[in-house]
Amino acid sequence: MEINKVAVLGAGIMGAGITQVLARAGYTVAMRDLEQRFVDKGLATIRGNLERAVARGKLEAAAAAAVLARVRGTVDLKDAVADVDLVIEAVVEVMAIKQAVFQELDQLCPPRTLFASNTSGLSITEMAAVTKRPQQLIGMHFFNPVPVMQLVELIRGFETTDETFDCCRAVLEKAGKTPVEVREAPGFAVNRILCPMINEAIFVLAEGVAAAADIDRAMMLGANHPIGPLALADMVGLDTLLLVLEGLHRELGEDKYRPAPLLRKMVRAGHLGRKSGRGFYDYRK
Ligand code: 3HC
Repeated sequence: MEINKVAVLGAGIMGAGITQVLARAGYTVAMRDLEQRFVDKGLATIRGNLERAVARGKLEAAAAAAVLARVRGTVDLKDAVADVDLVIEAVVEVMAIKQAVFQELDQLCPPRTLFASNTSGLSITEMAAVTKRPQQLIGMHFFNPVPVMQLVELIRGFETTDETFDCCRAVLEKAGKTPVEVREAPGFAVNRILCPMINEAIFVLAEGVAAAADIDRAMMLGANHPIGPLALADMVGLDTLLLVLEGLHRELGEDKYRPAPLLRKMVRAGHLGRKSGRGFYDYRK
C-alpha cells in the first residue's frame, strides 16, 4: 500500500516536528490538536524552522512555501482523519487517552488506514487491543528535535504485520530517517538505556556529588555526548522523563528504574525543562 495522506494528532514539540518532516518529504499532512492555540503554536514552530533553513541557504523559499502548503492545521478530528492512509498520534503519554484516541480513529478512518503511536515507551499491543485492526498498528518513536535526529524506532506490537511494518519503514526512509526494528518491550531500546542514565545523573546531582553544569560538562567531554544528561532532560521534558521511568519501574519491577525523588519534586513544582522555562537550567531570559 502506498502512503500519500497522513494525519498527525498533537501539535506539540513532537507532533509539529513529525508534521514538518513528513510535509518536507512530500506528504500531505493534517495536524490536529484539541484547541486552535495549540495548532497555531505548532504551525508557528514549523514556519520558524523552515524560515531558519531558508535564511541559512539550506532550503529555497519556494520549497519552504510548498512544504507549508502541504500542512493543514485543524481542531476537527473527523475532518483530519476521514481520508488518510496513516495516522500518527503524538498525544499525551497516558494509556487510557491513547486507547480512547485509537478507538475513535477505528470508527472514523477507512479500513485501509494504518495507525502509529509516537509513544516514548508504552505498550503498542495494549493500544492495538482496543481496535479492530491490531495488525495495522505500530510504534513509530521519533526523537527530539525531530527535524534533526536521524533515528526512528519502529516497534512491532504483538500483532503488527510485515506489511504494516514495511509500509511505515518506507515512509520513514522517504523522510530521510533511519528506522531500527524493535520488538515491543517497556521503553523500547533507546529509552530503556537513555532514561536510566539521565536518572542517575539526577541522583548524582541530588547527592551533591557534582554541580549540574559540571555533570553535563563531564559527560560531554568525558563520554563525547553532544549535550549533558541534565540539559537533555530539560530538552525532553521532565514530565516525559518521569513517565518513561515510572513505566520502566512498574513494568520491569526493578529498583534500578526508580525515578530520582528530585525529578518527581521538580515535576510537582512545574519545573519541566525548556517548555516551562525552568528545569535544571533557567531558560526564562
Ligand atoms: N528544531 C529544529 N531544528 C533544530 C532544533 C530544534 N529544536 N535544535 C537545533 N536544530 C538544528 C539547527 O537549526 C541546526 O541546523 P543547521 O545545521 O541546518 O543549521 C542544527 O540543528 C544544529 O543546531 P545547533 O548548531 O544550534 O546546536 P547543536 O550543535 O548543539 O545541536 C542538537 C543541537 C542536535 C539538538 C544537539 O544538542 C544534540 O544532539 N542533542 C541531543 C539530542 C538527543 O539526544 N535527543 C534525543 C532525546 S530522547 C528522546 O527524544 C526520546 C523521548 O522519548 C524521551
